[in-house]
Amino acid sequence: MLNKLTFTQKQSELMGLLKSGKLHRLNLLEGSVRSGKTWISLILWAAWVSQRPTDHAYMMCAKTLQTLKRNCLMPLQDLVGINHFTFSLSTKEGKLFGRKILLEGANDERSENKIRGLTLGGAYCDELTLFPQPFFAMLLSRLSVSGAKLIATTNPDVPTHWLKKEYIDKKDVDMLTIKFLIDDNTTLPKDYIASIKKEYTGVFYERFIRGCWVAAQGVCYPQFADDPARYIIDTPPDDIMFVTIGGDFGGNNSAHTLNATGYLRGFKSIVTLDEYYRKETITPQQLETDFCNFIEGVCRRWKCTDVYLDSAEQLLIKGVRLAAQKRGIKVIIHNARKGSINGRILFYNRLIAADRYKIVSCCKHTIEAFQTAIWTPDTTVEKRLDDGSINIDSLDAQEYSTEKYMSRLIDAERRS
Ligand SMILES: Nc1ncnc2c1ncn2[C@@H]1O[C@H](COP(=O)(O)OP(=O)(O)OP(=O)(O)O)[C@@H](O)[C@H]1O
Ligand SMILES: [Mg+2]
Repeated sequence: MLNKLTFTQKQSELMGLLKSGKLHRLNLLEGSVRSGKTWISLILWAAWVSQRPTDHAYMMCAKTLQTLKRNCLMPLQDLVGINHFTFSLSTKEGKLFGRKILLEGANDERSENKIRGLTLGGAYCDELTLFPQPFFAMLLSRLSVSGAKLIATTNPDVPTHWLKKEYIDKKDVDMLTIKFLIDDNTTLPKDYIASIKKEYTGVFYERFIRGCWVAAQGVCYPQFADDPARYIIDTPPDDIMFVTIGGDFGGNNSAHTLNATGYLRGFKSIVTLDEYYRKETITPQQLETDFCNFIEGVCRRWKCTDVYLDSAEQLLIKGVRLAAQKRGIKVIIHNARKGSINGRILFYNRLIAADRYKIVSCCKHTIEAFQTAIWTPDTTVEKRLDDGSINIDSLDAQEYSTEKYMSRLIDAERRS
């Protein structure tokens, strides 16, 4: 089955290194999005494992088992066939060409304990910059069998990232790094590549298209900050399918916020339709009344069934839930997912770059927040500044409202 596949030139070069025995102990495929890294890394991994002893254990990992399944295990099964690769997430084990493959998620600092004490013949990691460093250090110490190798993929991150500083840039690490660029992926249609390139601007273009390890500096939403008028509309559009609400609870000099987001037909764009912002100290009862008034107001104007509130405040969430129920407001109040903040920033930048984000002019606090948010200066970790000087609360509420639909919105762009 591997014989039927066609490689891009870059991918052929990599497979050539395997054939001529030129792989290193650590092998990292890094670079742009959609450049064919994961696809070829799976073939390389399968081809390499199939030549290795059957009595060793091997490991495949990603940030979570779910992402491992979606990005690697399913595609690997498609590539080599179900006769050569089977897996089970519940037992966290697979079989690849008769070799035992352990499956693991590297989602937090404690995950290193899960692999302590293992002896591994090889390891595969997808999206390596997302791993906690202690997990990776532990994984390398487990590759103790003679000839053991690591095959990994990643997009670039900040130049101060542990993977760059401690491994890629270190001369004494036995590591091969190969850069893949989106233009190298000749299997993708040219207009698709052109549309992906348009989704990224500024630091994200440098990183995800040009494959450079660069730090984000200055404003978080440069296109919005440069020309806010382009994204502000006076009246809500007519073709809104439905609305979701996100909310953040204040305290300690931060504000209580709610943002209502409308989704346009076919998920072609989103609009912030209305906002609530209150910074002064209020009683829980007042908060419940305010939140219910806002939610009710939104439900009167649009179809809205789901509200996502800051999950750190369970008592307040319960209070709002009960108050909404008493008033007969028919919405489900969920805990906000609160995924990666940088992921959400990238998401809004992509929508802004593609002209798919608009905001109604009455949402003054959110408009100002998008204009003024900046990256924390002089730090090794890339982080939006959150020291009370900038209104992060409206951005949190905005982001909570859309977290569930982020991949749907990105996929909609891809399909159009
Ligand atoms: N040689 C090939 N033949 C057919 N399809 C390919 C080939 N190489 C890559 N692809 C396809 O191109 C797309 C992008 O490849 P892949 O997912 O490997 O990119 P990536 O570099 O890992 O991207 P990201 O950084 O976004 O994870 C996928 O749909 C993949 O199936
Ligand atoms: Mg990939």
